[in-house]
Amino acid sequence: KPRIFSGIQPSGGLTLGNYLGALRRFVEKQDEGIETIYCLVDMHAITVWQDPARLRQQTREGAAAFLAAGIDPARSILFNQSQVSAHAELAWIFNCVARMGWMGRMTQFKDKAGKNSENVSLGLFAYPALMAADIMAYHATMVPVGEDQKQHLELTRDIAIKFNNDYKVDFFPVVEPLIEGAATRVMSLRDGTRKMSKSDPSDQSRINLTDDADAIAQKIRKAKTDPEPLPESIEGLRDRPEARNLVNIYAALAGHTVEQVVRDFAGAQFGTFKPALADLAVAKLSPITEEMNRLMADPGEIDRILADGSERADAIARPILEQVYDITGMIRSR
Ligand code: TYM
Repeated sequence: KPRIFSGIQPSGGLTLGNYLGALRRFVEKQDEGIETIYCLVDMHAITVWQDPARLRQQTREGAAAFLAAGIDPARSILFNQSQVSAHAELAWIFNCVARMGWMGRMTQFKDKAGKNSENVSLGLFAYPALMAADIMAYHATMVPVGEDQKQHLELTRDIAIKFNNDYKVDFFPVVEPLIEGAATRVMSLRDGTRKMSKSDPSDQSRINLTDDADAIAQKIRKAKTDPEPLPESIEGLRDRPEARNLVNIYAALAGHTVEQVVRDFAGAQFGTFKPALADLAVAKLSPITEEMNRLMADPGEIDRILADGSERADAIARPILEQVYDITGMIRSR
C-alpha cells in the first residue's frame, strides 16, 4: 500500500515556492486518498542556528500553513519531527551506513557551507541521513518535493540499498520522488537564476504566505524583468529566466499549462501581465493567509493537532525501528 511522506523546515516563514512546489501538492495527494504523513522538520532546522522562540513560532506557523492550505488532520498525519524520536534514532543508524564521500557531494551542503565548511555544524553535513530516516521510518515510497530535493532523495535510495545489502535483508523500500507540475522550481523575484528561498536575505526576493495583498502586489510590480514584451510562443521564454519564472508562477496558480498562459498573454507588456499576476496571486493566497491568522490566534489548538499527529506517527515508526534494531544486532531486553 503506497504511503507518502514529506517535510518542510520551519527555518523561516513559508514562501510561494514551498506552497506551489510542495504544500499544494501535499493537499492533492491527501485528496487522492493516499495515506499521507507530513512533518515540520524542526531538527533539520537547527542544522543552522535558530532562535528558540522563533523556531517555536515558525513551527506553529508552518503547521497553520498546512492546515490553511487544506491538510486535514483527520485524513493526514501532521506533526513536528522532534516529537517522534524514531527520526533521530534511525538517523544515527543511517549515519553509520552513509559514506562521507556521498555526503560531501550534496550540492545543497556545498551551497550552504560555502567556502567556510570548517565552521558549519556536523548536523548540516549529516542532514540528508536524517532526511532518509524521516522517510524510511515509515517505509514511505512516494515523496512529493520540489526540484531542489532530488539529489537528497537519490541519496535516500542509496542509503536504503546499502542497508539492505550490508545486512542481507530486503527491508527498506526504494523511494520515488514526485516532482510534478509547472512550479517545481520557483525562482527569486530579484534574480531568475536563483531559487526562491525562505533564507534569502532580501524579503523582496520572495512572496511569503504571511504577506498581505499590498505586499504581494508591490513585490510582483517590482519583480525583475527584461524590457521585452511576453513572447508569442513558449520557445521565446528560453533565455529569459525572470519572464519564464513569472509565467510559470501564473500557470501554477491558475492551474493552466504554460502554453495556455503564453497564448493568453502573447505580446503583452509586463505593465499588463504583472497586475494580472498580482490579482491572481492575491486571489489564491489571501484566503490561506487569513485562515493562517485565524489559526495562529489559538496556538494551543495547533499544539494539540501536532501532539495527536505525533502519536499516530510514532505508532507507525516505532515497530519499524524495533525491527531495525533487531536486524543490526542491538539487544532490546527491556
Ligand atoms: P525545504 O523546507 O527547503 O522546502 C520544503 C519543500 O518546498 C520545496 N521548495 C520549492 N519548490 C519549488 N520552488 C522553490 N523555490 C522551492 N523552495 C522549496 C522543497 O523542494 C521541499 O519539497 N530537506 C527538505 C525537508 C525535508 C524533507 C524530508 C522533504 C526533511 N525531511 C523528507 C521530504 C522528505 C527541505 O529542506 O525542504
